[in-house]
Amino acid sequence: MDDTLKGKTGAKNFTKNHIKGTKYTIAISSAKGGVGKSTFATNIALALKSIGCKVGLLDADIYGPSLPKLFSINEKPESDGQTLKPIVKYGIQCMSIGFLTEEQTPMIWRGPMVTSAIKTFTQKVSWKDLDFIIVDMPPGTGDTQLTFAQEINMDGVIIISTPQEIALQDVKRGIKMFDKLKVNILGLVDNMSYFIGDDGKKYSIFGEGGVEKTASEFDKKFLGNIPLNPEIGKQGDLGIPIVEHDNQHEISKIYIKFAENIKKEFFEYK
Ligand SMILES: Nc1ncnc2c1ncn2[C@@H]1O[C@H](COP(=O)(O)OP(=O)(O)O)[C@@H](O)[C@H]1O
Ligand SMILES: [Mg+2]
Repeated sequence: MDDTLKGKTGAKNFTKNHIKGTKYTIAISSAKGGVGKSTFATNIALALKSIGCKVGLLDADIYGPSLPKLFSINEKPESDGQTLKPIVKYGIQCMSIGFLTEEQTPMIWRGPMVTSAIKTFTQKVSWKDLDFIIVDMPPGTGDTQLTFAQEINMDGVIIISTPQEIALQDVKRGIKMFDKLKVNILGLVDNMSYFIGDDGKKYSIFGEGGVEKTASEFDKKFLGNIPLNPEIGKQGDLGIPIVEHDNQHEISKIYIKFAENIKKEFFEYK
């Protein structure tokens, strides 16, 4: 990875674009797929909304968009020929490549097209009066991550991982990439940390403490745990994320706590 990055990060003085219509841009990332990035991105957006923030959600996974399903959005965004209007659902301004293509269309997009799609979503969408835009990143350390790191003025990245060694291995690559590109890593979240069985016992299915250990190894903040709870997946499949479905659920309270910390970090200490 280091070698491919070298050429691309060579130009030092590129100007980074701020996403118009929004104060802070926060990406949800992890080099690994299936660790819960999209689930976290959608629920954290809704949690930020529930504590009074104006929020946008940008699904930057061009090959495998999740937002249409997770928010149950079937309509196409309006366009005036110049800009695309985000679709507002659950009080969140949303954009996804999935709104523009048929659900079953395979995404055989090449690298340069991915970059131009990201540019369209960050420069040509009429995001309006947002405190935060949450960017749901694809897995990997590829063109999307590079484009955001080099061309978009991101205020921070939250890295999601399960505590399993195979996920952490990729996460470490992701941390190194963002460090190298000088993107501010807000911290690491341990997702699917444990499962509480009907017997009330705690099962650490993917091992224990791996994410926190990785955070300290790389001198990053550890932001906390989210347990494995089937309700999270069920609500995602229904298109009404758990935080929107039941604000008082113990899991929703965890997401809301994360949201409060993010809000504090950006609006109280600056
Ligand atoms: N804390 C959790 N508990 C239970 N299921 C979860 C949790 N987080 C994510 N999932 C499920 O794991 C799968 C992958 O999540 P997703 O958010 O799509 O991952 P990614 O975006 O990283 O590929 C989904 O089926 C989702 O419902
Ligand atoms: Mg995803």
